[in-house]
Amino acid sequence: MALYSAPPAHVSIRASANPTTPSSSPLTLFKPPLFWPWEKLKVGPMRVSPMGFGTWAWGNQLLWGYRESMDGDLKATFDLAVDHGINLFDTADSYGTGRLNGQSERLLGNFIRAIPGGSRAGDDIVIATKFAAYPWRLTPRQFVKACEASLDRMQLKQIGIGQLHWSTANYAPLQERALWDGLVAMYEKGLVRAVGVSNYGPKQLLKIYDYLKSRGVPLSSAQVQFSLLSYGNDQMEIKEICDTLGITLIAYSPLGLGMLTGKYTPSNLPSGPRGLLFRQILPKLDPLVSTLKKIAQKRCKTTSQVSINWCICKGTIPIPGVKSVRQAKENLGAIGWRLKPDEILQLESAAKESPGKMIQNVFQTR
Ligand SMILES: NC(=O)c1ccc[n+]([C@@H]2O[C@H](COP(=O)([O-])OP(=O)(O)OC[C@H]3O[C@@H](n4cnc5c(N)ncnc54)[C@H](OP(=O)(O)O)[C@@H]3O)[C@@H](O)[C@H]2O)c1
Repeated sequence: MALYSAPPAHVSIRASANPTTPSSSPLTLFKPPLFWPWEKLKVGPMRVSPMGFGTWAWGNQLLWGYRESMDGDLKATFDLAVDHGINLFDTADSYGTGRLNGQSERLLGNFIRAIPGGSRAGDDIVIATKFAAYPWRLTPRQFVKACEASLDRMQLKQIGIGQLHWSTANYAPLQERALWDGLVAMYEKGLVRAVGVSNYGPKQLLKIYDYLKSRGVPLSSAQVQFSLLSYGNDQMEIKEICDTLGITLIAYSPLGLGMLTGKYTPSNLPSGPRGLLFRQILPKLDPLVSTLKKIAQKRCKTTSQVSINWCICKGTIPIPGVKSVRQAKENLGAIGWRLKPDEILQLESAAKESPGKMIQNVFQTR
């Protein structure tokens, strides 16, 4: 995929680690890529960019205010990301509300097929989709059928990472083995190149890792809520287990659903259910938000870039959600540089000091 290629015509400036740098200096004539090929990270047999993009909003009207009129901008967002070497896109078969169910997968499939350069042009793109543990998915075959339906929606022959969206251990433990066997079956059939989980806590993660291993299937990735807003022992315990077992940790909601972008305040809340949540948390985030702003200003970055960079510094692959070219352009500036150790410490102590914390996903297990 075109890691070094010029930005498409719709992008006026190339995203750089410092989007505020004027481009007239001769020093800026050479534009290094945001990351070098050897900086890609291993997920199963694949190598992915140090940051991916999340697409939960693509099709979700209720929480994210999606409208079909956004599709042109979303395609440009995807193209911009790919042109800058981003090759990991996270989605799920449950993304998209009402009649738009599956819309995120459908759009990604359309965008991949439209990549200029012919049918093999999208080969490097790694789609990580998640299969919901719906109560009616009771057998391995039903789970494999869910995978086939995702492949149909995306019109792909194979998915990069097939992830179990959540564990049923807390409320339907008997269902879980069938879902695990479904993951094994989709891997053995070659429908997915790697297998991952999402919302698994340390205990369940060890269990599924052992089970898959006994069936000859490597567990390649674990996706959990991971950000300065959910910073704490639970988060770091999962990270340590992943490191020990060679599992790649994918950090979801790295911007705390938008609260770490710095654009929302108690008097400027997003509409819909997020507004209700933010109303509770934002007034208790002062130490963290002001430290983020201070470091961002010193480094000529934005608070979003600093928040995402922190996730990279912790050894995870963040997948910030993006809804527009503007957001993607800004978030691309989160890669290609690193926070200093003392800045990381300042951020973590500000996170500990701030009483506001992200609520845990209801599906997260121990
Ligand atoms: N496994 C799971 O159960 C699970 C759960 C949640 C998410 N995820 C995955 O993780 C991805 C990311 O998480 P998330 O979408 O929940 O939250 P997030 O990445 O923390 O926040 C994303 C939102 O922040 C705003 N934003 C992003 N970049 C911005 C920028 N540069 N400037 C200003 N605003 C910006 C956008 O919303 P507004 O413009 O509307 O503010 C965007 O939709 C999802 O898309 C999904 O793929 C997985």
